[in-house]
Amino acid sequence: MKDRASPSVTLHVCVTCRRGEEPLEPREGRSGNKMQAALAEAMQSAGTTGIELVPAECLSGCKRSCTVALAAPGKWSYVMADLDPARHAGDILTFARQYAAHPEGVPAWRDRPEIVKRSVLARIPPLPKERAA
Ligand code: FES
Repeated sequence: MKDRASPSVTLHVCVTCRRGEEPLEPREGRSGNKMQAALAEAMQSAGTTGIELVPAECLSGCKRSCTVALAAPGKWSYVMADLDPARHAGDILTFARQYAAHPEGVPAWRDRPEIVKRSVLARIPPLPKERAA
């Protein structure tokens, strides 16, 4: 299924996250890097457009690795934690599509993937000047 989302959605991925006893080096071995690779692969497989995958170094959720964040102008932002790159990339991409399709970035709770319901660390309102008039 092709994604017809607005091109303004950013999916930040903490590439420095480590899960369990993962070593600092090599960085490619970190779960955060694996999450970015898994998301990039899922997006490519699905022909996703309108969502930009952007690496970040630490989203301040280190004790609940892996973390990702969704943001877009005029929409609520979300930081999500406790993610496993081997199991959750597809669900994060599903939520990113739901988010992109909703004008305020607030997809219906019942429609969200289960891992998203459990993993939201913070929900941040849009900047005041970005809110719809
Ligand atoms: S290293 Fe990923 S949230 Fe801090």
